[in-house]
Amino acid sequence: MGFSIKLLPDNSTFTAEAGETIMETAKKHGHNLPLGCADGACGLCRGILLQGTVDHGRSTVIALTDEDKEAGLALFCCAIPTSDLVIQRREMVADWTILDWNGSME
Ligand code: FES
Repeated sequence: MGFSIKLLPDNSTFTAEAGETIMETAKKHGHNLPLGCADGACGLCRGILLQGTVDHGRSTVIALTDEDKEAGLALFCCAIPTSDLVIQRREMVADWTILDWNGSME
C-alpha cells in the first residue's frame, strides 16, 4: 500500500510505493528536488513535513538533528513515508541555487 504525498508549493500530489523515499517518488513523478549526496549526509535535500510522519532512514545527525526532526524537517533523500504527507520543498532557480531558506525553522 502506498502513501499520498502532496508537494508544496507545486501543489502536486502523487503516491509513494512501499519503502520508497520521498526523493525517489518525487523524481519518478517528474519533480527534481534539491539533491546533493543522496546519502543523508549533506542536508541539501532538507524539506519541511507539514503533515504526516516518516521513517528518517539513514539520515545522519550531521545533516538532521533530533531538534530538526522535532521541528518538522526531513531529508527527502532518506525519508520514507509512514503516512500520507504534505511536504514543502525549497525554492530553486534553474541553476539549482536555493532561493528562500537556509534549512532552519528559525
Ligand atoms: S542529498 Fe545529502 S542529505 Fe539528502
